[in-house]
Amino acid sequence: MTVLTGEALADRAADVLRGNDLGDMTAAAPRLYPHMWSWDSALIAVGLARISVPRAITEMRTLLRAQWTTGMIPHIVFSDVDGYFPGPDRWRAHLAPTAPSGVRTSGICQPPVHAIALRHILDAGRRSGGTDQAEAERFISSTFDSWLNWHRWLATARDPDGLGLVEIHHGWESGMDNSPRWDDAYARITPGTLEAFTRLDTRHVADVSERPSDTEYARYLWLIEQMRRADYDETAMRSSLDFRVADVFTSAILAVASDVLADLGDEFDRTEAAAELRDIAARFRAGVASTIDSTTGLARDLDRHDDEWIDADSVAGFAPLLSGGDVDLIDRQREIFWGPRWCGHPDLAHRLPASLSPAATNLRPKTYWRGPVWPFLSWLFGWGLRHHGHIGDAEAIREAGLAQLTDGHFGEYYEPFTGEALGSHRQSWTAAVALDWLA
Ligand code: GLC
Repeated sequence: MTVLTGEALADRAADVLRGNDLGDMTAAAPRLYPHMWSWDSALIAVGLARISVPRAITEMRTLLRAQWTTGMIPHIVFSDVDGYFPGPDRWRAHLAPTAPSGVRTSGICQPPVHAIALRHILDAGRRSGGTDQAEAERFISSTFDSWLNWHRWLATARDPDGLGLVEIHHGWESGMDNSPRWDDAYARITPGTLEAFTRLDTRHVADVSERPSDTEYARYLWLIEQMRRADYDETAMRSSLDFRVADVFTSAILAVASDVLADLGDEFDRTEAAAELRDIAARFRAGVASTIDSTTGLARDLDRHDDEWIDADSVAGFAPLLSGGDVDLIDRQREIFWGPRWCGHPDLAHRLPASLSPAATNLRPKTYWRGPVWPFLSWLFGWGLRHHGHIGDAEAIREAGLAQLTDGHFGEYYEPFTGEALGSHRQSWTAAVALDWLA
């Protein structure tokens, strides 16, 4: 069995990113995902910043070119590569009056981790100085308003009732596509007439049971159909869509990313915008805290259909570790996080957060967001814990995260107990976080 560490692992990771480089964007994975995904691209930029600051900037520029006039950053920016479903023809997002011209995109979004990438790009630029620094600074100051608009859009269009929680209209917007978090909301959906379709994702994995089922897929496509009928208009969608959930994890990311963007605003003389972003951060941090189940200590999503809390035992329950919050809340969350139902579960291959509690009775250790460990998510928790001052926790995640990747496959996700790499191999954001951990 291959065991790669240190420089050898970093070389292999850099090779993955080079291999998936399509010029001005990095494919999320070689065959399964031949386009740019929004939150993947931010994590990829974090890794790229360790190799080439200008290339990391290009990644974020490409993403921004796809921004909608509303401020929304779409979840997919399509490359010219064929072989992905649902592609641009299914979304028909370019017909929406608010879609960007000259780029083909999907019509939904993903969690706003981008400001975290901007911070990494700027820090890397400053570390190397010279043109890297100049370019990074120019990039941040010249695009600051676009990122600000993205955060503003999430904080308004996607929080119409001012709950401090971001509402999502598709499980894909959460980035955790088929998480049990969305089971009840999806169960209610009876798809209407759908255009015929052939899935392509199942062709690229060895075991189709790792992927969402066809029934799940029909519901995913039905929501796209509903969005198309509403011309991707936020107000129209709110009254017509079958799926409306306040996503606690995306909300936590919006909170912490707004703080990070506010810091950048302060550094680049945008004090008013910085103050506005800090207000957004505070509102969503409070929103996240308001979801805590006092019995389990975990954060919850809220189904806006009936305003019922969703109890899922999922990793999103640790949203406060990203958003930050009061000391008691964070201490309790850290205790649960490292405890026997989560990273301290005795049978785990590595002490890392799995997508579902390894002790959950509905755990499916090989199925996508229903059990496996996702390396980029480990990185995100490590970053968040470090950001909030929990250096020891962050180091423990980094060590375990790297140990998981020594097989050199850079899997999309990993079986929590055996440590086997699953889904796509040579997944870009997995390689990217390895590069950052190793630097
Ligand atoms: C899957 C994941 C999503 C990710 C995408 C590309 O759809 O659920 O989070 O962005 O793949 O890697």
